[in-house]
Amino acid sequence: MKKDVILPESEIQKQFEYMSEVKTEVGTGKKVFIKTFGCQQNEADSEKLLGMAEKMGYCRTETSDDADLIIVNTCAVREHAELKALSISGGYKHCKEKNPSLIIGICGCMVSQEHRVSDIKNKYPYVDFLLGTTLIHRFPEILLKTIREKKRNFWISPETSVIAENLPVSRVTGSTEAWVSVMYGCNNFCTYCIVPYVRGRERSRNPEEVIKEVKQLISDGVKSVTLLGQNVNSYRPESSPDYGFPELLEDLCRLDGECVIGFMTSHPKDASKRLIDVIAAHPPAKGKVGISRRFHLPLQSGSDRILKKMNRHYSLARYLELVDYMRSKIPDVSVTTDIIVGFPTETEEEFLQTLEAVKRVRYDNIYSFIYSKRKGTAAAEMEGQIDEEVKGQRLRRLIALQSEISKENNSRLENKQIRALIEGVSKTCPEKLTARTEDGKLIHFDGRKEDVGKHGIFLIEKAECHELFGRLLKTEEV
Ligand code: 5AD
Ligand code: SF4
Repeated sequence: MKKDVILPESEIQKQFEYMSEVKTEVGTGKKVFIKTFGCQQNEADSEKLLGMAEKMGYCRTETSDDADLIIVNTCAVREHAELKALSISGGYKHCKEKNPSLIIGICGCMVSQEHRVSDIKNKYPYVDFLLGTTLIHRFPEILLKTIREKKRNFWISPETSVIAENLPVSRVTGSTEAWVSVMYGCNNFCTYCIVPYVRGRERSRNPEEVIKEVKQLISDGVKSVTLLGQNVNSYRPESSPDYGFPELLEDLCRLDGECVIGFMTSHPKDASKRLIDVIAAHPPAKGKVGISRRFHLPLQSGSDRILKKMNRHYSLARYLELVDYMRSKIPDVSVTTDIIVGFPTETEEEFLQTLEAVKRVRYDNIYSFIYSKRKGTAAAEMEGQIDEEVKGQRLRRLIALQSEISKENNSRLENKQIRALIEGVSKTCPEKLTARTEDGKLIHFDGRKEDVGKHGIFLIEKAECHELFGRLLKTEEV
């Protein structure tokens, strides 16, 4: 029998008491700055850290210069992200010299690894606390202890991990979109990946909690919710073991209001035809809750031998069969993927098989990565590590191929009319607004900020490989 993973209400209550105590200790007018690295799961964790910080009397600031509390929420998936987090944390030394009462904490996946913890303990004496991913609900407690006892605290993840419900959340995604975690951790142990070591075993939230949260978001006016989990297809709550991710999607689609439900990430070994049928049966529509037409299905490699060495448990043929089924049931689906190049022992021929798979699927977008050796994973110990130069060259070839495909796919949308949700000011050209299509593509257009949160019909005038440029023809009244 698996043990109960939901943290008892009394434990959360204790954290609320610590929040009040911190509030009394720090007084008013203090500022918190959070720097987040990595995936949406980390962004969602930062929203909780921020929510708790706000309850403790801190208000959010966008720069580290005037902060009284700095949190770095780190990622460990690739070395590059770790080095960046370490270098940024190093920079905060100067903030501490200017303001000795500043508190600096590092959270997230990087500090759930022993070797990084000892690095920071020894080389970053101005970092006040470390808090592992499975302990973020104890942020008020560690902060209070750090303030009161004026000594450093290092709480890294324990073996067991829990689910903490009802923590305060301060959403940073804007008023129209939100992330909702449905499960935490991962049991898959893909041989390149650090996640199962730093985020603990898979555990799923109860559907009632997820449904309650999404219902509230919809009634707050949120129009796009992304359900998060390392492998949402293995969502299986302890309270109802016969209930899986397709059932959760169906229940969410029964809610009142208008919202598009997306999800990530889906492991191909567990993506079922039933899941695809449920998505097909619930398209987004005016006045309804429907499911996004974007399907992110990480391939990782087009070579069966490499997939096996990666411990992925599917073949290219099974993957393609899934994509074909998806396209037959959901003709407007936009398929995206993750690919790693230069996995240990990957030959030129095997890399060419990946390129062939990309040509066959014709993805709308690819997130491509150079294999990064992660201490403690099986692949880090494998013979046949690939030369950095070769890995870089393979990445460039993959990106060039995908850019052509994305551009061709997108150019089919030119002169077509598409419905999309107006999200806000464009991050790349601030004089424009952006809207998100039902399959996750971004349209830049000239518009009025008052229309944010409304749906509009757009004429696509120009397509680039990563974005569309269009004209707003009309908005739908909310
Ligand atoms: N090196 C490179 N890419 C990695 N990913 C995970 N671990 C590694 C690694 N060690 C990629 C995978 C995964 C995505 C989130 O990050 O493609 O799907
Ligand atoms: Fe990492 Fe594989 Fe788990 Fe994804 S499914 S988080 S790649 S171990």
